[in-house]
Amino acid sequence: MKLTQDQIDTFHREGWLFLPDLFSPEEVDVLRQEAEGIYREQRPEIWREKNGAPRIAFAAHTYNEAFRLLGSHPRLIGPVEQIFGEKLYMHQFKINAKAAFTGDVWQWHQDYGTWKRDDGMPAPKAMNISVFLDEVYPFNGALMLVPKSQNEGDLDAGHDTSTTSYPLWTLDEETVTRLVKQGGIVAPTGKPGGVLLFHGNLVHGSAGNITPFPRKIVYLTLNAVSNHIRKPTRPDYIAHQDFTPIEPVADDALLRLAGQQRQAAE
Ligand code: SIN
Ligand code: MN
Repeated sequence: MKLTQDQIDTFHREGWLFLPDLFSPEEVDVLRQEAEGIYREQRPEIWREKNGAPRIAFAAHTYNEAFRLLGSHPRLIGPVEQIFGEKLYMHQFKINAKAAFTGDVWQWHQDYGTWKRDDGMPAPKAMNISVFLDEVYPFNGALMLVPKSQNEGDLDAGHDTSTTSYPLWTLDEETVTRLVKQGGIVAPTGKPGGVLLFHGNLVHGSAGNITPFPRKIVYLTLNAVSNHIRKPTRPDYIAHQDFTPIEPVADDALLRLAGQQRQAAE
């Protein structure tokens, strides 16, 4: 799949791009069911909120077939290769739960802040690309983005190790206020199957989810191979050290898997 020049221009100007309905309901159903099964497992790659609800399942592309296919899907790999002009490897892969009633906040931050400080990534030449597994509403913990904030470069950040169960380099209120005065806030919402791309320096965060509607989103962080990390400090399942270029699978790979799973259940 290829982006239009208009879409590429929008991404460079705003720092984000939303592609509704990139995956069909049948493709997303497989992924959602697999994600729910993964959250029931007990394994080190699954981090929980302080209240015990699942927060993040890391690296599912390494132990689950549906997410392996998603991690090499041409509809995700193609657009990012087009923007960076080179092959990609998977720097990070996570399924973020934001569980109904209990999903916790993500403080305001830039992802490159963490990739640089914790992983030794040379430049913000890595893309976050997220796939909605549930409907994202304005009220169930939608990701909030500050448009154009990618132009600020790597901002000063503090290491927040206490607010949530997941340590994060976060921005102070003054900085966020200044950037929001310039760029406002957008919160892309929509049906399962929508895909959101955003720049590694784009300021973003999300509120807690106190609604009955879970908000699962898969985040792939695709890094340009030449920009591979130099000084990893985090476990390999959080910041991968396999820099092998991703070869895309067939476009209908998830549909085929859905068909196989249906047949096996009959
Ligand atoms: C993130 O910023 O990495 C995740 C935010 C979210 O899932 O709301
Ligand atoms: Mn983030």
